[in-house]
Amino acid sequence: MKYNVIKVCSKPWFLGLLSVILLTTSNITLLMKVNTPTPLPDYLDTHNTTTICKYEDTPRVGRLDQNRQHIIFDSLFVGDNFWQLSQEKIVCLATLSTPDKLHWLPQVVTHWGGLVSLAIYLKDSEEQLFKSYLNYLYVCHSEIMANVSVHLIKPLVRHGDIYSRVSSYLSSEPPIIQCSNPTTVMKAFMKFRAKTVANKGVPQNHMRNVARKGCGTSYVITSDIDVIPSKNAEGQLETFLKRKESRECIKCVFVLPTFELDDQAIFPKSKSELLTLESKGRARPFHEKVFIHNQYATNFSRWRSSNTTNDIVISHPVTDFEFFYEPFYVSLDVVPPHDERFIGYGFTRNTQVYEMFLSGWKFYVLSPIFLIHWGLQRRSTRPGWRENENTKNRILFTNFKRELIARYKLDMKV
Ligand SMILES: *[C@@H]1O[C@H](CO)[C@@H](O)[C@H](O)[C@H]1NC(C)=O
Ligand SMILES: *[C@@H]1O[C@H](CO)[C@@H](O)[C@H](O)[C@H]1NC(C)=O
Ligand SMILES: *[C@@H]1O[C@H](CO)[C@@H](O)[C@H](O)[C@H]1NC(C)=O
Ligand SMILES: *[C@@H]1O[C@H](CO)[C@@H](O)[C@H](O)[C@H]1NC(C)=O
Repeated sequence: MKYNVIKVCSKPWFLGLLSVILLTTSNITLLMKVNTPTPLPDYLDTHNTTTICKYEDTPRVGRLDQNRQHIIFDSLFVGDNFWQLSQEKIVCLATLSTPDKLHWLPQVVTHWGGLVSLAIYLKDSEEQLFKSYLNYLYVCHSEIMANVSVHLIKPLVRHGDIYSRVSSYLSSEPPIIQCSNPTTVMKAFMKFRAKTVANKGVPQNHMRNVARKGCGTSYVITSDIDVIPSKNAEGQLETFLKRKESRECIKCVFVLPTFELDDQAIFPKSKSELLTLESKGRARPFHEKVFIHNQYATNFSRWRSSNTTNDIVISHPVTDFEFFYEPFYVSLDVVPPHDERFIGYGFTRNTQVYEMFLSGWKFYVLSPIFLIHWGLQRRSTRPGWRENENTKNRILFTNFKRELIARYKLDMKV
């Protein structure tokens, strides 16, 4: 295995480190009354980091969300190809992540093969981790980052000293980074994550809206960072969406069947490989065991038996919509936004899908394209805060539903 030591330019970390070194050397210099500056160790040579140091500092000025609880920095980093591609392409993948899940990004981008708009939610205490990891991605995977635009969302409240944990970082060795394996690098980085930081209060719906609007294309998929598209999904979808029948299908939601896959399996190269894995129990519909209603309305049995072609076709329409249906889909970017009153877990994706359903959007399942979530999901005990978020959102849902009924002039039975 080849390890590369790279210079991860994370400004505050480096400036902090640099100032410690400079202070130390100037003290020594004073004491010894010598004027020759001590050369910096190799890993601290920041002269050649201008091209590497994509991430500088968060700008001081962002925009606030409607509830004035979050601050949003749109298009904080824009990959070198992003603008050009956004002029040429009609579809873009909008995705969201917390800093601890960023290692999925390279796989998502390379499988997808086109534009990616990424919204990241960050607490101040995670800024170091985020900056360092993002810079690592820019250094080691610049061709991947070229297709990506990154947006940042932070809680508006300012908590404590954001650099408090840097001092412990300083005393450790410079990171040894293995370019080829983002997951290993993330594991190393996670050691610096404060134990108290859970993915609590994540404004998922804000992130989805921000990522979607950051796409700038006609069609958008809204996905999660750990959901991986089948190979060359973007190319196939561009072809499909440009067809006359697709273009004329305005209020159409094209569902991407989503599976979960055994961690040890090899990512299926085709629908038939996926079906083989499924027959061996190594893949199954996403959330089938944890919460079957999540994807049930997709009707996987019809998908399995529909013709396998190279080009994307509509396999079948969704006929039995359910309230808890949460498909990943591609649609025109004019679908209703994700309602930002729902924060954290519960009622986040499905309420948006529900609104589409109530307002007359039709759902069609595509084949042979698919999405994969790594790991067979098991029912596990969820942390109490997650249940609290769910309960809070269930209460908020009552008003949300009343508003939908008024907005779309529906009768109360729905
Ligand atoms: C700067 O760093 C880049 C990437 O590590 C390297 O390819 C380049 O040769 C370096 N340039 C100089 C002047 O050292
Ligand atoms: C970036 O997008 C272009 C255009 O779709 C594609 O050709 C290229 O392979 C993409 N790069 C990566 C690393 O996926
Ligand atoms: C799936 O499709 C079959 C055949 O059309 C139908 O009998 C069944 O009710 C459908 N199930 C769901 C969940 O839509
Ligand atoms: C599936 O493909 C066969 C042969 O190409 C064709 O005859 C049949 O009509 C197709 N079925 C559907 C549902 O498209």
